[in-house]
Amino acid sequence: PLVTSEQILKAAQEGGYAIGAFNVENMEMVQAAVEAAEELRAPIMLQTTSSTVRYASVEQFYANAKAMADKASVPVVMHLDHGDSFELAMQALRAGYTSIMIDGSHYSFEENIALTKRVVDAARPNAIPVEAELGKVGGKEDDLEVKDAGYTDPLEAKEFVERTGVDSLAVAIGTAHGFYSGTPKLDIDRLSEIRKVINIPLVLHGASGLSDEDVIECIKRGICKVNFATELRVAFSEGVKSVLAKNPETFDPKAYLKVGRSNVKELVKNRIKVCGCQGKY
Ligand code: 13P
Ligand code: ZN
Ligand code: NA
Repeated sequence: PLVTSEQILKAAQEGGYAIGAFNVENMEMVQAAVEAAEELRAPIMLQTTSSTVRYASVEQFYANAKAMADKASVPVVMHLDHGDSFELAMQALRAGYTSIMIDGSHYSFEENIALTKRVVDAARPNAIPVEAELGKVGGKEDDLEVKDAGYTDPLEAKEFVERTGVDSLAVAIGTAHGFYSGTPKLDIDRLSEIRKVINIPLVLHGASGLSDEDVIECIKRGICKVNFATELRVAFSEGVKSVLAKNPETFDPKAYLKVGRSNVKELVKNRIKVCGCQGKY
């Protein structure tokens, strides 16, 4: 069924594992992710970025997620990833999304607090949890590009959580969206410092390109949600390309979309295992 992120993130925090949050771009990726979760008995989060919902709409992505979630026995969350305005956050809320991220990380500390608090206050009556970001996760994701990443300051994070009442917090500890040019250097001690002063679930962005060991270490130190996007897009596209390269005369979209879909399903299964949430439902 479709659930809010509150229950599954709390359970992950208590159980010392993380929920895999997977960016979906189309119906096939929604199907792939939920099928993977169902087979592994894992709770799962699906998420769409601001540019993804502008490509279609929150209503269309919600309908896809809801249809799959209703058939699933594991808990499924539909989450707005990197919501870039109060208005978009409200659209997602009205469409039925069960978790919302508002990303004010590129604003000043005070502006980020004000925007986040506004979304938290609006989501509270519907009991929809809100994720925010403090510090800047670098790299490029869709049309969001961050050139100078800034690490999260633990004391600022504590103040941010207290003043906004946010439900989960994305932290910047050296990860970046997209693949990495060199070996990523994570400031995992900073993560532990943040964990010490904050008790809400912490979120790791930019997991594509991280080693399994890095992800597992971050979960040990308090990460409860891990975001995967770029590598799923690549897996899907590679599948489509392989069919079209072999048989350029293919005209039935199902013939190549299903190969993209099965690539994504395999990858999501791997990542669920790395997050340690296999068999948690
Ligand atoms: P990657 O594209 O590096 O997997 O990052 C995903 C992410 O943080 C989505 O918000
Ligand atoms: Zn992200
Ligand atoms: Na990444």
